[in-house]
Amino acid sequence: MREQEKVIKDPVHGYIYVHDPVIWDLLNTREMQRLRRIRQLGTAYLTYPGGEHSRFAHSLGVYEVIRQVLSHFERNGYRWPTEDRRLAYAAGLLHDIGHAPFSHALESVLNTRHEEWSEQIIRHPETEVHQVLARVASDFPAQVGDVLGKRYPRRIIVSLVSSQLDGDRLDYLMRDAVMTGVDYGKFDLPRIVRILLPKDDRLVARQSGQHTVEAYLLARYFMYWQVYFHPVCRAAEVLLKNLLARAKALVEDGAREISPFSALNRLLAADYGVADYLGVDDSLLLAAMHGWRDHPDGVLADLSRRFLDRHLPKYRELGAPLSDERLSAVKDLVRGAGFDPAYYCTIDEIGTVYYDYYLGAQKGVHGDGLFLWDEASGALTEMSQISEPIRAMAQETQRTARRIFLPEEVTGNSQLSLQLDRWIRP
Ligand code: NI
Repeated sequence: MREQEKVIKDPVHGYIYVHDPVIWDLLNTREMQRLRRIRQLGTAYLTYPGGEHSRFAHSLGVYEVIRQVLSHFERNGYRWPTEDRRLAYAAGLLHDIGHAPFSHALESVLNTRHEEWSEQIIRHPETEVHQVLARVASDFPAQVGDVLGKRYPRRIIVSLVSSQLDGDRLDYLMRDAVMTGVDYGKFDLPRIVRILLPKDDRLVARQSGQHTVEAYLLARYFMYWQVYFHPVCRAAEVLLKNLLARAKALVEDGAREISPFSALNRLLAADYGVADYLGVDDSLLLAAMHGWRDHPDGVLADLSRRFLDRHLPKYRELGAPLSDERLSAVKDLVRGAGFDPAYYCTIDEIGTVYYDYYLGAQKGVHGDGLFLWDEASGALTEMSQISEPIRAMAQETQRTARRIFLPEEVTGNSQLSLQLDRWIRP
């Protein structure tokens, strides 16, 4: 059995170390290699030019964080069976295997969830990842699927892949901060790895590392507002979604051969299987858009040109939800300017829960909390009980961005924009 150290250079972790031949074989599967052609941050590269990194680099990074955490545990006297280690590595590496092109836009147009696809791809006997996993043991693909679906009985393995301090979040937050250049999104990842420990079959942090964890949670908050919810990032996402929705509508109207790519055509026709799903990536969608620049359907052609040439829609903040009456007045305005409001007038509402334990506990339902372990007393305390900044952040659940996206031809026209302001002003 070959067991030779492989080393991969990485901008976030320095080096990524692979010893297990199963992990190496997984990396070389067709489905993992596809993730090189899916951008981790979707359309955010149109705002942050550095944000071009792939799901492949992120997946490798999640594996590496889990490897570092387990290696830290082992150096400190916690014994891990080889099978458990391999299961955690494989689940970390494959957790995003089901992502669609540009990460989220197509998912919402097709009304699917990448988490479900990840499990399906792992369980499907014809995928290469399934075949590599099944060589370990016939039930190994199902175990990896159970970890991703959070059904695996050993909670600690699930929490390495998905929890408040899992390998996924720790890698994507750092990677997205490094690649976009958003410095205040960075945090002390090597120290987080050192303060983690397993207690009661879950992942907890030493209380002496409280401020390191606070800095990480704040970095997460900053990344949401500075990158993931950034209005220009959202503008590109809205444009891409409208473009895909238009392509889908044309297919539903009978244009089955909308692109030269049968996998994409079948996806848009909602008549597809695992092979079709895996056959579509960012490069294929971009190639389809190049073809659509001259499509006879004016809307599809125009939206494709706008995306490729980066003529993003402009936004106005909405303080409160628009009444039906005001919204239909805005739509009339857009229609009057020569644009179909179904594809050129979009309200985007977005927000998240930054730390969900505290509010959950108030309702008597405990969310996925973060626990600090006090070495002296042996007590485990939930983070927001002792951290003022985290308590404040946990309560900030009301913060939602509500924006309306419109063509620049509307917002940039002084007369139209005066009328627009009258309808959207609270
Ligand atoms: Ni991920």
